[in-house]
Amino acid sequence: AAADVAKGEAVFKKCAACHKIDNTNAVGPHLNGVVGRPIGSLGDFTYSDAMKSHGDDWTPDNLFHFLANPKKFTPGTKMSFAGLPKDEDRANVIAYLEAHAQ
Ligand code: HEM
Repeated sequence: AAADVAKGEAVFKKCAACHKIDNTNAVGPHLNGVVGRPIGSLGDFTYSDAMKSHGDDWTPDNLFHFLANPKKFTPGTKMSFAGLPKDEDRANVIAYLEAHAQ
């Protein structure tokens, strides 16, 4: 099934406790424009060393793997979230993030 932005918005409620998409950081870094952004790269957010030194970009594929199991993708991350086990939920929330480039 094609990724669904509206369903992704519903999934994002699980992220919204820690992430905003209005260019301001909260518990977690802001996520507008995150698709394509270098990993751990916001100058005004204090990342874990693990995230800061990971390298690579937040491609849709990297997000898909990270969101399945954040601590497996980035051992040492301070993102306290178990992950989204359903492929469909991850694809939809990534589509939602892609729709918020600015
Ligand atoms: C980092 C996505 C849920 C707290 C990140 C990053 C992404 C992300 C893409 C890296 C951003 C960057 O490199 O600038 C998501 C999504 C979530 C979610 C899509 C929901 C499915 C949560 C929740 C919390 C949280 C619920 C808080 C309990 C954090 C923190 C970081 C982070 C603290 C920084 C991690 C570090 O520096 O190691 N998140 N997140 N996130 N997130 Fe989340």
